[in-house]
Amino acid sequence: MRILVTGGAGFIGSHLVRRLLRNGHFVVNLDALKYSGNLANLEDVKSHPHYVFAHGDICDQNLVASLLKEHAQDGVINCAAETHVDRSILDPGAFAKTDVVGTGVLLEEARKAGVSRFLQVSTDEVYGSVESGHSTEDDRLAPRSPYSASKAGGDVLALSYWTTYQFPVVVTRGSNTYGPNQYPEKFIPLFITNAIDDQLLPLYGDGRQRRDWLAVEDHCAGIEHVFLHGQPGEVYNIGGGNERANIDVAEQLLAYLGKPKSLIRLVQDRPGHDRRYAVDCAKLKRLGWRPAVSFERGLKETVEWYRTHESWWRPIKSGEFRAYYEAQYGKRLSGSRGVMG
Ligand code: TYD
Repeated sequence: MRILVTGGAGFIGSHLVRRLLRNGHFVVNLDALKYSGNLANLEDVKSHPHYVFAHGDICDQNLVASLLKEHAQDGVINCAAETHVDRSILDPGAFAKTDVVGTGVLLEEARKAGVSRFLQVSTDEVYGSVESGHSTEDDRLAPRSPYSASKAGGDVLALSYWTTYQFPVVVTRGSNTYGPNQYPEKFIPLFITNAIDDQLLPLYGDGRQRRDWLAVEDHCAGIEHVFLHGQPGEVYNIGGGNERANIDVAEQLLAYLGKPKSLIRLVQDRPGHDRRYAVDCAKLKRLGWRPAVSFERGLKETVEWYRTHESWWRPIKSGEFRAYYEAQYGKRLSGSRGVMG
């Protein structure tokens, strides 16, 4: 198929582009190359005969329309998004713009162009904090951060296109994803790269929040599977089945790196911090997908990737990231304490 992937230079997007090319599809990658979009993520496929890169924003209606026309796309997979909860607290407007308005532009242009399939990459965070049990696709949406609220906006907007226009939309709600090429603002790559440099690891609150960790390869396999086999108008959860408390993940990655637990600092909590996310993936399993990567193996390989790819993350951490890190963690770390007391 000829597929327009948006946000293909980002973390999940770049793994997805590579996978789709490997599986014989033609891919046009539309990416705005904002702070976390990075063409280095696609260095190995940039000359692939079935790959085209287009630099631009999903909010740019004319550009989206002309790309769809020029490349006669069979399908669209929307990975383009602002994704980091902490940044959404600092700058909520950017999230509403890309994650809601941008998704709306893509949907409308894809519908007008007669695209035969549209997959919206959403997130399990739209269900809000889940104190017990597992979210199913029919559960009420209760997002609690500007990030998850914006993603929920894009998610239900996409579904409305099926109800209203019978435009064949499918939605995936993936859990916390980790792996190579993840921008080091997120928990796992931030902690790995800080630990490599013997820098403190800022653990929010009591460190007992829980997430369900999903290897990026498993997430992309789920997206591809839903794109090819999902029922139009349906939502599919994608989860790794690896629920862990943050503090346990921090200790595990320190152990892999041979670094001391004393690097962990308990710092002031994130405002509105969701305590737990957990998804029920029975629906996608019935469709034939299963996660293949154990958390132990996936985390070990991810640690190894960051250990051996300093040339990828050092330039990132020395650029715009520095000001962000100072704003986000400077005060927090100066008032922090170790987990030992
Ligand atoms: P994150 O990677 O930001 O994903 P999300 O908030 O979307 O789940 O964070 C994962 C968990 O790690 C979350 O409970 C917040 C926590 N966390 C920290 O304790 N310290 C940090 O510096 C970061 C970035 C996250």
